[in-house]
Amino acid sequence: MSVPGGGDLAIETRGLRKTYRSARGRSVGVEGLDLQVPVGGVHGFLGPNGSGKTTTIRMLLGLVRPDRGTATIFGHEVPRRLPEVVGRVGAIVESPKFFPAFSARRNLRLLADAIGAPTGRVDAVIDEVGLTGRSKDRYKGYSLGMKQRLAIAATLLKDPDLLIFDEPTNGLDPAGIREIRQTMRGLADQGKTVLVSSHILAEVEQIADTVSIVARGRLVAAGRVADLVGAGSAARSVRLRVAAPDLTIATSVLETGGLLVRREHDALVVDGAADAAQVNRALGERGVWVHELTPLQADLESVFLGLTAHETPGGHTHKGGRTKRGGPPPEPAHAAAQAPISEGEA
Ligand SMILES: Nc1ncnc2c1ncn2[C@@H]1O[C@H](COP(=O)(O)OP(=O)(O)OP(=O)(O)O)[C@@H](O)[C@H]1O
Ligand SMILES: [Mg+2]
Repeated sequence: MSVPGGGDLAIETRGLRKTYRSARGRSVGVEGLDLQVPVGGVHGFLGPNGSGKTTTIRMLLGLVRPDRGTATIFGHEVPRRLPEVVGRVGAIVESPKFFPAFSARRNLRLLADAIGAPTGRVDAVIDEVGLTGRSKDRYKGYSLGMKQRLAIAATLLKDPDLLIFDEPTNGLDPAGIREIRQTMRGLADQGKTVLVSSHILAEVEQIADTVSIVARGRLVAAGRVADLVGAGSAARSVRLRVAAPDLTIATSVLETGGLLVRREHDALVVDGAADAAQVNRALGERGVWVHELTPLQADLESVFLGLTAHETPGGHTHKGGRTKRGGPPPEPAHAAAQAPISEGEA
């Protein structure tokens, strides 16, 4: 796969695989993942729950050992040569531990000492994440969003070139999500590379320059956001608003046809169709006449749903290595996007 925009890679993985032993055989964490994260910009690492995002990030950081495959950060093989590059990487993978009775500033001072970062950075990173007004308050009185901003501040102490954030907006309200998003965008605008994972596309769609979409431990699409959602993209499926006299029958017809259907007030929102004609034909053939058929703008969400609707969270393999649901794994990008979609399997 070509690198979006060409140029150097901050992160590259090849054939990265990790399985976990489970009662049912081996559970697949990551299944031959090829990931390419260009230097600079925000890269969204997207996939449904259990698709292997955290496992991948843990392998990159040397917290989990891959069964197979290779990974590099700024060209340094990891985990073998991680010590050479770890100073250029800041990451939030698990909830970081801070002293509840200490202020943000005091926590960061202690941390800076521990990791050998200049204490002069403390005020700068507090400012960077917008905690200046509250930096003398105790950590235990912080809101979830403030705690998360402090976690980001901690990763910035070493002034890293690459930030890796695993679901940094989990549990935050819309305002908190927006603040974290702005912080991440700001870091990328300074020339840093930000890898941010999420299972909610809308959270990163607006700020990501490039994305990788994974499902069941495999890459199913990658590239610039604009290319993935843009007209003519091979991965495109349209989202349509459909109104008909009997929405229950219409839903059943469309679902039988492999489309993803969601009821919205007096209409249906249908994902996964190649175009409006496909929906019109499917309904007409069953005697359902639509009185509205509106293409809604294809956004990354519908691409995402189209690509991952087949995927059960956390694919399992039986003890012989066959995939549970059989069949070949999805090809990256358009092949999977064109496949019929069934909500029942999602
Ligand atoms: N320590 C572990 N032991 C056993 N199975 C694991 C372990 N860690 C992850 N898995 C399995 O590996 C698969 C991928 O999990 P992972 O946490 O990497 O997914 P994720 O994409 O981060 O999901 P989420 O969006 O829910 O955070 C899942 O099936 C999960 O159950
Ligand atoms: Mg995770």
